Amino acid sequence: MREMASLLRTVADETRLRILRLLLETPLNVTELTGVLGLAQSGVSKQVGTLKRAGLIKERREGLKIFYRLSQRSELTEEARTLWDLLMERISRVEDAHHDLVRLAEVLAGRQSQAPGLHEHLLAPGESWHAWARMMMALVPSMERAVDLGCGSGALSAELARVCKEVVGVDISATALSAARAHVERVGLTNVRFLQADMAEGLSREVGAHSCDLALLSQTLHHLPDPMVGLEVASGLLKPGGRLILMELLPHGEAWVKEKLGHLHQGFSATELEGMMQKAGFEICTLETLPPYRGERFRTILGLAVI
Ligand SMILES: C[S@@+](CC[C@H](N)C(=O)[O-])C[C@H]1O[C@@H](n2cnc3c(N)ncnc32)[C@H](O)[C@@H]1O
Repeated sequence: MREMASLLRTVADETRLRILRLLLETPLNVTELTGVLGLAQSGVSKQVGTLKRAGLIKERREGLKIFYRLSQRSELTEEARTLWDLLMERISRVEDAHHDLVRLAEVLAGRQSQAPGLHEHLLAPGESWHAWARMMMALVPSMERAVDLGCGSGALSAELARVCKEVVGVDISATALSAARAHVERVGLTNVRFLQADMAEGLSREVGAHSCDLALLSQTLHHLPDPMVGLEVASGLLKPGGRLILMELLPHGEAWVKEKLGHLHQGFSATELEGMMQKAGFEICTLETLPPYRGERFRTILGLAVI
């Protein structure tokens, strides 16, 4: 009876049930489980530990990685088997409320592309994307002034500074800006200025109305209570003929980003962005939805527009 009570306590948890459901499909390691569940890795490890101690899952080492699989029925005690049969039957039919199985397919596709023998990491730029992007910037005609709205830690402002006489990076976060200032100092750029401001309050006074050739809104709109404001601010800062580069996330089901990352919107559709850009006075040059990249949970949309 005591064993039954302990087993029932182990499975009386939604995350642990989600893990069991996923392991019903295939053995997975903690990194993969974390990728699918969208929870902190430490939390996932803890739940995996609980399931392991209860004997419901077993570990298997493959090189440096530890994979977890469901225990076989024969590995369970007589008492546990009754519960196990019921559990397996139920969870195999339960509604995939968190879209775990969709993300599992993406994670498994990512695993496939990293399979030994393919050496995909040697065939694509990987970490050297950054260097590659910098090289491509050499082809961009130089500009007078650019503004990076919601510049975060300033990586993009710094790249823009290589082709602009002056860059203004704006962010509401003092923490992000101190990282941004340290970054440009480290790389020796003197033509980037950072400004702490809430763009919802307008930036014409601090940055200068119609003074910029380029405005960047990279993953910023989803942080604004009214995303339309971000586009209006950009349009008000651009010179006539100035351009906007926009990068956003497509609509997604990852509600945890609201609490954990402070997102206020779970992405935007191409139609929504198109409507908002036009309303802010932009003429759209391109609006391109990127295909899923490896096992990424988020899909990106890129826009280029002129005012
Ligand atoms: C996801 S980060 C994007 C950083 C950078 N643009 C990039 O693509 O790497 C969004 C940034 O927008 C900033 N932000 C959010 N609301 C803002 C506001 N009202 N005014 C200015 N910046 C804001 C956040 O502090 C954060 O640094």
